[in-house]
Amino acid sequence: MLKKVFIKTFGCQMNEYDSSKMQDILNQAHASSKTENPEEADLIILNTCSVREKAEEKIYSHLGEYEALKKINPNLLIAIGGCVGSQEGENILKRAPFVDLIFGPQTLHRLPDLVSKRRSAGLSQVDISFPEIEKFDYLPPPSFTGASAMVSIIEGCSKYCSFCVVPYTRGEEISRPFEDVLAEVVHLASLGAKEITLLGQNVNAYRSLTKNGTPADLALLIEYISEIDEIKRIKFTTSHPNEMNDSLLECFGKFPKLATHLHLPIQSGSDRILSAMKRNYTALEYKNIVRKLKKNCSQISISSDFIIGFPNETDADFQLTKKIMEEVQFDFSFSFLYSPRPGTPASYIHDEIPHEIKLKRLNELQLINEAQGKAISHLMLGTKQRILIDGQSWKNPAEMAGKTDNNRVVDIKTDKSFINQFVDVIITEVTSKRLRGDII
Ligand code: SAM
Ligand code: F3S
Repeated sequence: MLKKVFIKTFGCQMNEYDSSKMQDILNQAHASSKTENPEEADLIILNTCSVREKAEEKIYSHLGEYEALKKINPNLLIAIGGCVGSQEGENILKRAPFVDLIFGPQTLHRLPDLVSKRRSAGLSQVDISFPEIEKFDYLPPPSFTGASAMVSIIEGCSKYCSFCVVPYTRGEEISRPFEDVLAEVVHLASLGAKEITLLGQNVNAYRSLTKNGTPADLALLIEYISEIDEIKRIKFTTSHPNEMNDSLLECFGKFPKLATHLHLPIQSGSDRILSAMKRNYTALEYKNIVRKLKKNCSQISISSDFIIGFPNETDADFQLTKKIMEEVQFDFSFSFLYSPRPGTPASYIHDEIPHEIKLKRLNELQLINEAQGKAISHLMLGTKQRILIDGQSWKNPAEMAGKTDNNRVVDIKTDKSFINQFVDVIITEVTSKRLRGDII
């Protein structure tokens, strides 16, 4: 039996979601509970990310710490899951032979099985295969408390951008059946969920069939979820520009429950770089999507991802990225330096651009984006916003905090009885990175 499980999660919302599923399946198999203290755990899981940086190195430094715990508690099991597990597989054992279990994002449901095999055989277990989305057939129904829940609707990625490791670590895109997704949302609603975030590496590539055999896409899913009374807000992330079909664009402005925010990674404003990245759209095509979105929903907020310093990005390329940042008026963005990933086509390109120039560009872009974000916050002053209060404010525990449709945190003077409730507030103040509001 496993009494206590400690999970350390790195990376994106998808990994947060996977960690909660690992916890659910171990709870079901072992009646184990979650701990925040690795010293009292019988199983430590590192749910890893390999999208950027020397992710492996980060993992090995944590492993050193956990190896010491194994000396005190020889029954402790150590597991590596997520994208580093999937990418490195058995190689991890060469460097860290004390690791007991290695699995990938598509085999996390086999964790209880891997634990028993490890114990009976006395050997480390590795399972990084990509079984056809069987995972969801084995996972127990979500145990959930709170008002905001996530549901994975499509796994993997088939886009193969030249810089990205995800298609190799998470496998090809595969959608969950439409009826299964709806059943999970209804179940979550019965447990108290009021906000649903639909997840996928390319969530808008979702394709399935309804029970009548009608083709179903993300737009249809949003339409059906809108009909569930208990669900008051619907979000989805992350979208790919090439999958923004007209029916999805029309959802904004048509379904009041759909949050007026879209995260739409652009990566660069230069067509030359976009083509080298294998993104398959131009800056103009991207701007066209934004134009249609703004036409359907004037208050839409758009955020994005940028990669700065892709091999041989010139100053002219960078100026185009700055230009599109200003033209689109992105709200907030994630911008990072390009990081070569083993085995990806871009990692073989010889790059002439010095690191300091890339850093300078990154800083410049981030300053522009910060100023834009602040300007948008100031435009929100005096407006009415719908907030889901999710708990006490960390700035002042006597106050509560919640999020707007466009993901801004608002501090509100009110009491705990409002936690997990939607309220309408008037925005009264812009503080450094947050807002302040009064309940109407
Ligand atoms: N589906 C999304 C899209 O349309 O691009 C992307 C999901 S990807 C896991 C998340 C982000 O990681 C990307 O948007 C990209 O900015 C970043 N990323 C991926 N590979 C990277 C690399 N090698 N270096 C730097 N950033 C990277
Ligand atoms: Fe990565 Fe491109 Fe897919 S950034 S996750 S290969 S859309």
